[in-house]
Amino acid sequence: MTPRLNSADWRAAARSALPRFVFDYVDGAADDGLCKRRNRDDLDRVTLTPRVLRDVSRPETGIKVFGRRWAQPFGVAPMGLNGLSWPGGDEALARAAAAHGVPFVLSTASNVRLEDLRARAAPGIHWMQLYVMHRGLAEGLVERAARAGYEALVLTVDVPVGGNRELDVRNGFRVPFRPTARFLCDVMRHPRWAWRMARAGRLDFANLRVEDAPGADSASLQAALLTRAMDRSLTWESLAWLRRLWKGPLLLKGVLHPDDARRALDHGADGLIVSNHGGRQSDAAPSAIAALPGVVQAVDGGAPVFMDGGIRRGDDAIRALALGARAVFLGRPLLYGLASAGAAGVDAVLSQFKADLQRGMALLGLENLDDVPGSGLVVGGPDCSPSRPSRISSHQGDIR
Ligand code: FNR
Repeated sequence: MTPRLNSADWRAAARSALPRFVFDYVDGAADDGLCKRRNRDDLDRVTLTPRVLRDVSRPETGIKVFGRRWAQPFGVAPMGLNGLSWPGGDEALARAAAAHGVPFVLSTASNVRLEDLRARAAPGIHWMQLYVMHRGLAEGLVERAARAGYEALVLTVDVPVGGNRELDVRNGFRVPFRPTARFLCDVMRHPRWAWRMARAGRLDFANLRVEDAPGADSASLQAALLTRAMDRSLTWESLAWLRRLWKGPLLLKGVLHPDDARRALDHGADGLIVSNHGGRQSDAAPSAIAALPGVVQAVDGGAPVFMDGGIRRGDDAIRALALGARAVFLGRPLLYGLASAGAAGVDAVLSQFKADLQRGMALLGLENLDDVPGSGLVVGGPDCSPSRPSRISSHQGDIR
């Protein structure tokens, strides 16, 4: 077996382990995949100038967020249908996150009930992600999450409708689901995956069963989540409704515009996740790393700003921190690990990120992560973001 040294190696392993329709669901993006590519291209352009002859014998990777210590400045992004990559995928991700001292965000579209995840994977830093498909249903989810002990609520705001994922359509991975001969061949070519899935039994969106929405048709709720049929009437005013229901930290995920960032804080948000959903929603959206400095500037220290999208190595996390992020969230790389080797794969990917981060810090002359913004690192050239050159270069003054 070729050694799996980085996210690209894990991606290749996942590609051969998974049927095509599952790999494409995990790896795919919206439309032409431009936004997903932009996430990487813009990160690649952010350079960090090392400082030398500093004591980096014990790089301190820990940070504090909402009063809790994270051992590294990264967490597990919310992802739906993790049970398709590996049975018990949500639990495997949560346990690995806890073992590494980093947070896990459970998706509304998880394959484990939010209460069961807490029972099986606690103790750990657990956040709950919310999709609002229907207000009554969302209220139920928020109350259940509070009762189960989730520490923060993440409202995803970049899915008013589902992104256009043409690979899923081509693969027949859609509602109503009708297996084709091609689909069955795809599954048969991956007998290990098929065997694992057959043994695990039926997969569903476990948070949305009949008992959770009395009177509603569970099958249509499940279909609505798969097609991301959301409540399109959600507005800034709706945040007050959520704020009344949820007393803990409330974060908005999917904010890219500085004005929206300011508005979010005015409406009671406690934190923001700068994200374009890994390029799975609007293909025209800027990269997350390019949008980050504008949001950080707009928030002006009023709340922690997180970022996700395209993070593939430890240095990427430092790049985001240098541009003002408190921490980053990891998406696909963890699913590549999960799909290739289950819990051991997730653990290996997180270990690689940690080792990468420590090496990166030492090479850049960073003793701890609080040093990043003021350490003299230089971010990019003036062209480090093709989409927002002026913002990134104007931010350089703040981080010198
Ligand atoms: C996601 N993402 C996501 N986000 C969210 O708020 N709720 C969800 O249910 C999902 N589901 C989901 C499934 C899959 C398979 C992927 C890959 C992503 C988006 C996710 O939280 C995150 O924003 C991106 O994955 C970050 O980009 P990278 O790290 O995958 O490039």
